[in-house]
Amino acid sequence: MRVTLSVIKADVGSIGGHLTPSTEVLETVAEHIHENGHKYLIDHRVHFTGDDVAILMTHERGADDAGIHGLAFEALMAGAKTAKAQGLYGAGQDLLKDAFSGNVRGMGPAVAEMTFDERPNEPFLFFAADKTDPGAFNLPLYLAFTDPMNTPGLILSPELGNGFEFVIMDVNNTERDRVIRLKAPAELYDIAALLRNPERYVVEAIYAADGSQAVAVATSRLHNIAGKYTGKDDPVMLVRVQKQFPATGEVVAPYHLAPYVAGAMRGSHNMPLMPVQLNSTISYFDGPPIVTCAAFCVHQGRLVGPTDVFDHPFWDTVRANCAAKAIDMRRQGFFGPAMLPMDELEYTGIVERLTALDKRFKLR
Ligand code: F6R
Ligand code: MG
Ligand code: MG
Repeated sequence: MRVTLSVIKADVGSIGGHLTPSTEVLETVAEHIHENGHKYLIDHRVHFTGDDVAILMTHERGADDAGIHGLAFEALMAGAKTAKAQGLYGAGQDLLKDAFSGNVRGMGPAVAEMTFDERPNEPFLFFAADKTDPGAFNLPLYLAFTDPMNTPGLILSPELGNGFEFVIMDVNNTERDRVIRLKAPAELYDIAALLRNPERYVVEAIYAADGSQAVAVATSRLHNIAGKYTGKDDPVMLVRVQKQFPATGEVVAPYHLAPYVAGAMRGSHNMPLMPVQLNSTISYFDGPPIVTCAAFCVHQGRLVGPTDVFDHPFWDTVRANCAAKAIDMRRQGFFGPAMLPMDELEYTGIVERLTALDKRFKLR
């Protein structure tokens, strides 16, 4: 069966600052999908990660379908209405348009979609991250799909040994999206040269040598759409696993690194990425940036799961290390790499301050 997985997510308002949506917002979104989804969907789930609500849907209508995108947009609009009625912070903030016009791309919500012929066993992972941006997935994906030190399958399994093709987007090109396709391992250094800069180059998709899609990442940049910063672009990602793809354990292994990513407080800092349980909230320093991983099998479009991958004692140690890294970085406040470079800051205050100071400099 040819099935499409679609994840559409947005921050439509949250309690206590940018921490978590209210139960009522989540119920509104879930009820809207439940009541209106039957004519489009085979199955669905509604999750939250920090302040973001994500709708995972299975259907047979392909990617970029107006019916599916409209359904999710209307559900998120309904959630935003509840958030406004409750006086939640940032109510409706990621919904940049009032009326749906065929596709949610460019309207604020993040989208990751994949269409494929279901394998007899079709396991996949749904990742969602909050208080960071899509480049946060660059390093874990690089390690999982190219590095035999992380992924023994690359040398043990004949199916994986043929490598993978990365589709990488230049997200700073404001005129039109630009993508490049690069093959691992043949073009490994080119891939690394791009992915080292996660604020500019972002993995959008990965394909196996047989042409089947393994990965889809939401690569939208709200500040490109809105023309100004409207918050970090908290990304979602779908990853098919096993057989011709890396195993689940190989895909999740790199998250033990808790790499420093852009985000946290005011979307303007470098902080380590903490793997957390599904439906986790935000805390220390409006962070740390968090990532959740829900594992599913899909069969004839029906979802079985999720299993909460980071809800395991192993990750307690990783979380403790991550918290220590976060505190270490915070010791240096605004200084050097603790705060993002000028063009990645979510606020204009510092630019205005430096412009005012510039006039007071005197030649000597
Ligand atoms: C992401 C997120 C942050 C905020 C940022 C600025 O989920 O919530 O990136 O957008 O912290 O928010 P304000 O200015 O409202 O504090
Ligand atoms: Mg937010
Ligand atoms: Mg968020």
